[in-house]
Amino acid sequence: MALKLVLFVTVMVAALELPIAKGTSPVFEVQPSFVPCSLGANVTATPPFPNAQVQLRCGAGNVVASTTTNASGVFSFSLDSTRVFLSAKAHLSNCNLVVITPLSTCSSTLPAVGVLESPIQFIGFSLLRGHIALIFRPLGFRYSSST
Ligand SMILES: *[C@@H]1O[C@H](CO)[C@@H](O)[C@H](O)[C@H]1NC(C)=O
Ligand SMILES: *[C@@H]1O[C@H](CO)[C@@H](O)[C@H](O)[C@H]1NC(C)=O
Repeated sequence: MALKLVLFVTVMVAALELPIAKGTSPVFEVQPSFVPCSLGANVTATPPFPNAQVQLRCGAGNVVASTTTNASGVFSFSLDSTRVFLSAKAHLSNCNLVVITPLSTCSSTLPAVGVLESPIQFIGFSLLRGHIALIFRPLGFRYSSST
């Protein structure tokens, strides 16, 4: 579906002759997102998980990119979408976000094994400085005991 969207946007941009920089593919973005220091998806009034390593994994678990949350537990991604599409075998629904730093790092009462995982959700596209960006966000982080 996301691939169809890219094609649609490409055709639309061509039709409207918008000033898209030549030779650039759309940007894949995960908007600034919060990682909770908790097991559940309900992140209201949850402390943040700072310095947590977050991976974007696509397809059969390929690590496409990796970043770290800041002191407020916030991370984001901005990547060339071609790389993401290739790893995801064209289906961005095959991508998810995985926090690999153990939860015990942010709270000693939380597990030392397992990961927080979230599917990604497409929320729209933006046109910024001649680049199309496909914007995603985490659907909600949940604890998984397997890595
Ligand atoms: C999330 O937590 C808040 C505060 O504890 C609670 O009021 C709310 O009902 C919870 N929401 C869900 C969807 O569990
Ligand atoms: C973390 O990043 C977010 C989004 O960029 C920003 O609003 C926030 O101020 C940052 N927190 C710290 C402590 O740098």
